[in-house]
Amino acid sequence: MTLWSGRVEGKLAKEVWDFLRADDTELLPYDIEGTRLHARRLGAAGLLTAAELAAAEAGLSAINPSDITDDDEDCHSAIERLLGDVGRKIHAGRSRNDQVATAFRLYVAAACREAREALCELALVILDRAEPEAATPMPGYTHLQRAQPVTVGHHLHAWVEMLERDLARFAFAEGQAAVTPLGAGALAGSTLGLPAAAGVESMRNSLDAVADRDFAVDYLYACAACHGHLSRIGEELILWATSEFGFIHLAHTAATGSSMMPQKLNPDVAELARGKAGTALGRLVGLLALVKGLPLTYNRDLQDDKPGVFAARKDLRLTVAALGVMIHGLELQRERMAVAAADPLLLATDAAEALVEAGAPFRDAHEIVAGAVRDGSYVAPVGRARPAPGPGGAAAAIRAARARLGA
Ligand code: ARG
Repeated sequence: MTLWSGRVEGKLAKEVWDFLRADDTELLPYDIEGTRLHARRLGAAGLLTAAELAAAEAGLSAINPSDITDDDEDCHSAIERLLGDVGRKIHAGRSRNDQVATAFRLYVAAACREAREALCELALVILDRAEPEAATPMPGYTHLQRAQPVTVGHHLHAWVEMLERDLARFAFAEGQAAVTPLGAGALAGSTLGLPAAAGVESMRNSLDAVADRDFAVDYLYACAACHGHLSRIGEELILWATSEFGFIHLAHTAATGSSMMPQKLNPDVAELARGKAGTALGRLVGLLALVKGLPLTYNRDLQDDKPGVFAARKDLRLTVAALGVMIHGLELQRERMAVAAADPLLLATDAAEALVEAGAPFRDAHEIVAGAVRDGSYVAPVGRARPAPGPGGAAAAIRAARARLGA
């Protein structure tokens, strides 16, 4: 029995039903939360008695994902069915259009919060590794060629800076999701004069309220940008774990072997983290394409906005957790990094700067040192202090963010 069976004669073809049904069980807890908000509006307006409201609240608390059947068109229909008698009253003054947008916003807000908590944890794992290595030398790279000496602490703090910006992007998306379309109805409100949902800001324009999915775009953008960072981190771990670099040994808690080559220890975790970034980007592009041509207001195309978001939440959670284990356990090969960082050529810029201090224009100094490198007469300067790495300001920001999240 559909919510709209009164309008359609007979039964839909099975192929059509299978095509139309939403795969949205993951939304259920958030739809229950949104339905509770709506039930209270009905109670406040006298359209549900105190007893009916109590029955609705109790019924909502008792619903489980396994209660949804193949005969339910979506989780919204299932909730109405499962609430029994009071279910027949609960849809007054709302449509599945404001209902699904409400539930989806609650879902995205929770996913953003979860992402922020997970990223704080990962950043703290990296900080734990970075802080003891403030003076551990390693080569810094441009064009993947050794460039200038840096420290391991400096490098790992750069990863934390990336994650700190991701935290801000998820906080922004969470804020965008934190308003409610409830009251917009199908598109133009209702004549029932219901009060606004309590405790949450209502959206201003009912047409926009049911049609807008920018909050989900913002979330998928935050996911794509974050996965981009996790991919870059993954790529560095992959390089560092090669025999060619030899900067790290993989912990056995986060390494894999080969089914054929007995000697192999592979960085599959980092590789999969690198791979996930492509899929994450695809989800963002997919949603942008889904919404780009839609006329106001709701169109069923919008049912397809959710699977990518569900998958994005799961992928981010798994990727962040696994990379955390990998980074926590990796063994730095400090001696190997120190040897690489001691390459005298890494101080060629310093040699040019010494000539600048002695009065040479920088371009002349550059040419003189480059010539010495070419003809083999280059000698590294001694006693020049390299700048200290940045103050690691992201560390304080991460710790403050974590305290704010109450984790
Ligand atoms: N399952 C639908 C979705 O996810 C719910 C809204 C259906 N609304 C409608 N007018 N058919 O978008």
